[in-house]
Amino acid sequence: MSIHYCEKCMSFFLQTPHTTYVCGIVNGKYLGHIYYGKKLQDQNLRHLMGVKADPAADNINHGDTGIFFDNFPFEYNFDGIGDFRECALDVHTSDGHHGALCEYRSHKIFKGKPKLQDLPATFCNNENECETLEIELFDPVISMTLILSYTVFSDVDAICRHVRVKNEGSRPIFLDCVMSAHLYLPEDSYDVITLHGSWGRERGICRRELPYGISRAYSKRGVSSHQAHPFIAVTSRNASQTSGEVYAMNLVYSGNFIAQTDGLVNDDVIAQIGINPEGFCWKLEYGETFTAPEAVLVYSGEGLGQMTRTFHDLYRNHLIRGKYKDRKRPVLLNHWEATYFDFNTEKLLDIARSASRCGIEMLVMDDGWFGNRFDDHRALGDWVVNEEKLPGGLKYLVSEVNKLGMKFGIWFEPEMVCPDSDLFRAHPDWAIQVPNRENTTLRWQYVLDITRPEVLEYVWASVRAVLKSANIEYVKWDMNRALCNIGSKDLPADRIGEFFHRYVLAVYELQGRLVTEFPNLLLENCSSGGGRFDPGMLYFSPQIWCSDDTDAIERLKIQEGTALIYPLSSIGAHVSVCPNHLTGRSVPFETRGHIAMFGTFGYELDITKLSEEDLQMIPKQVEMYHAYNDLVREGDYYRLASYAENHGFDSYMVVSKDRSKALLTMVAVAYRINHRAYKIRLQGLDPNARYYIPAMECHLTGDALMDAGIFVPTPWAGGDYRSFVWTIERDD
Ligand code: GLA
Repeated sequence: MSIHYCEKCMSFFLQTPHTTYVCGIVNGKYLGHIYYGKKLQDQNLRHLMGVKADPAADNINHGDTGIFFDNFPFEYNFDGIGDFRECALDVHTSDGHHGALCEYRSHKIFKGKPKLQDLPATFCNNENECETLEIELFDPVISMTLILSYTVFSDVDAICRHVRVKNEGSRPIFLDCVMSAHLYLPEDSYDVITLHGSWGRERGICRRELPYGISRAYSKRGVSSHQAHPFIAVTSRNASQTSGEVYAMNLVYSGNFIAQTDGLVNDDVIAQIGINPEGFCWKLEYGETFTAPEAVLVYSGEGLGQMTRTFHDLYRNHLIRGKYKDRKRPVLLNHWEATYFDFNTEKLLDIARSASRCGIEMLVMDDGWFGNRFDDHRALGDWVVNEEKLPGGLKYLVSEVNKLGMKFGIWFEPEMVCPDSDLFRAHPDWAIQVPNRENTTLRWQYVLDITRPEVLEYVWASVRAVLKSANIEYVKWDMNRALCNIGSKDLPADRIGEFFHRYVLAVYELQGRLVTEFPNLLLENCSSGGGRFDPGMLYFSPQIWCSDDTDAIERLKIQEGTALIYPLSSIGAHVSVCPNHLTGRSVPFETRGHIAMFGTFGYELDITKLSEEDLQMIPKQVEMYHAYNDLVREGDYYRLASYAENHGFDSYMVVSKDRSKALLTMVAVAYRINHRAYKIRLQGLDPNARYYIPAMECHLTGDALMDAGIFVPTPWAGGDYRSFVWTIERDD
C-alpha cells in the first residue's frame, strides 16, 4: 500500500496490495483519470489521458475548451461548462447560474483515514494500516473548494473515496448534484451488474450488456430500498466468478442514491455513484462544508468472486464495529412468524422453554408488545409496554427468559407513527407532511420528522427508556415504509431539498447514540426485510435482516445477491415453518437449516407446534452452527453454482483463510431425471495440499478438487430441495 505524487509527470499513484489507481494534472490545472486496474509500477502513463508524457507540453487552447471539456477523462467532472456527459458536480449560485470548473490547487498525503463528518465510513484500526490522499481543487469564480479524498488499505484491494465541497465565497451556493465517486473507464466490451428486487425478493443479480447512454439503479424512497441497491459493477463482457475484470462501486449510505453508467459515443464509459440528485439540493452558506457519503471502489482482475471477497474483507475488518464484530451471535428465536400480533407472556414463555431445551440462546420479541398494537393499523410511536398482553411488563418477562439461561431481544420501529396512536393525537405535526395535502399512509403509518430536534429527542428517549427498563441484549430496528410528501416545519423553502439527506443523518445520529450508550447490545437493522441493507447500516449493526421471505429456496437467490457484496456474518437468516407463509413451498427442515446456517442463523417459528422429527433436528442444527460458525463468519466465500444458470442446483463454499478447512454446501433445487451426477468444481483450496472429504471418504489434492471437480451422483439428491453441507479438511 502506498500513495505517491510524481512531480515530473504530475500524477498521483495509489497502490493497494494488488491494484493501482492513477490520476494526473493536465495544463497545470485539470485533474484527469489515467488508470485503474491490475497493479503496475509507478511510471508515466499520461498518454492514457490523450496528452504528451511531458506536462510542459500540455497546451489546451482556450478557444477550443469545449471540445476538450466534453472529451477529457476528468477525474471528477462539472456541469454547465461544456461537458455534456453525466456530471459529478452540479452547482448553482443565488443568481440561479449553474456551472463550476474546479482546478487543481494542492494536495496532501498522510497516514490514517479521517472520519467523515456525521456519516458512517470505513476506518483503519491503526494509522499504519492505511494512507489517504486529499486533492484540493478550487473554482475561483464562485469561490468553491472541492476536496477529493482517497484512502488505500494495506490488507485489502479497495479504495475508499469521498468528496467535500466548501463555500469560500460571500454568497450561498446550492449543490444540485455531488457524486461520491466518478470513474472514467476506457473503451472495452463491458457488462453492467446492478441489484434489483422488491419486498420479499431483494437484491436479485441483474446483468446486461453495458448500453450507450445511461444505465441507472436508483432509489428515491428515502432508504436504499428493496427495489434497487447502491451498487454497480462494470465487468469485462462475460466475466465469470473466476475470470475477467470487474470495477465495482458501493455507497456507504442508507438513503436516496444513484449508481449509473454513461456509455459514451466515443465508446468510453463513465461510472458514478452518489446521492440521488433528484429531490436533492443543499444550500451552502459561507464557510460551510458539505460532505458526500463514502464510495467504496473495488477492482478485481480475477472475476466477481474476487470482488466479493474483497468487499467481505473490507467490511468485516474496516466497517463493522462493536462487541459482536468478530463474535459468534447467539442463536435466536424470533416469534414473528410464530404468532404475529397474537401473543402474551405465557405464549412467549412457552416458546422460550421449548427453545431453551433445544439449545436456542435468545428469544426475540417482535412487533406487537406496546401501546394498542393488536394489528399493524395502530400504535406505532407509543413505546409503552401493553400490560394486557404482557402482565408484569418487560421486567417480569425478561427475567423469566433469563432464568431459562436465554438472552432477550426486542423489536422497535422508532422512526414511525400511526395516525391511530397517542403520539400522533398529541403531535400531529411531527409526521413528515406537506401542508394541506392529505398525507399518504403506507402500512397504515406515517414517518416521523426526525430531522426536527424535539422529535429526534422523543424517539431517543422512548427507545432508551425501554432498553433501560430490563435486561435487553438485542434490538431489531425496523423501518417499514418509504418517505413521501416531503415537508418539514423547520426547513425554509430553499432547504427542502436537504430533507432526505438530513433524514438519513438523523437515523445515523439515533443509531450512533444507541450503540454508544449500549455497547453490549446486538443491533440488527431491518426494513420490511432487507429494504435498508447497505454499508451505512452495517456501520451500526453487524447484521441486517435480509428479507421477509424466509422460504429457503427463495433465500438461495436473495442470499446470493446479498453475499455478492456483504459478508455472510451480516446476513440475517432464519429457519421458518413449511408450507412457507409467503410462498406455500415445503422444503425439508434439514435444508432450511443448511441455508440459514450461511447467514446469522436462528429460528422464526412456533417451536411448540413442531413435529417431533423437526424438533429433534434443532439441537443438531444448533450444534452444527457452533461447530461451523467461526468458519462461516471469517472464511472466504466462493460461489460455485447458481441454480438459475445450471442444471438446477446451487452450490457455494467457505474456506478458512489458511486454506486448511472448508465447508461445501449443495442444494438440489430442481431434481434432474436421468442425469448421472452434479459436477462441482471447488475453489479456494491450496492446489498442492491434500484434502479429506469425510462424506465422500476420499483424499484428494486441491488441484484435483478444483480442476477435475467432484461428482455428486444425482440419485443422492432423492428429489427437489435436498441439500448437504460437507466438511473438507487438509490432511496433516
Ligand atoms: C417487518 C419485518 C418483519 C417483522 C414485521 C413486524 O416486515 O421485516 O420481520 O418484524 O415488520 O411488523
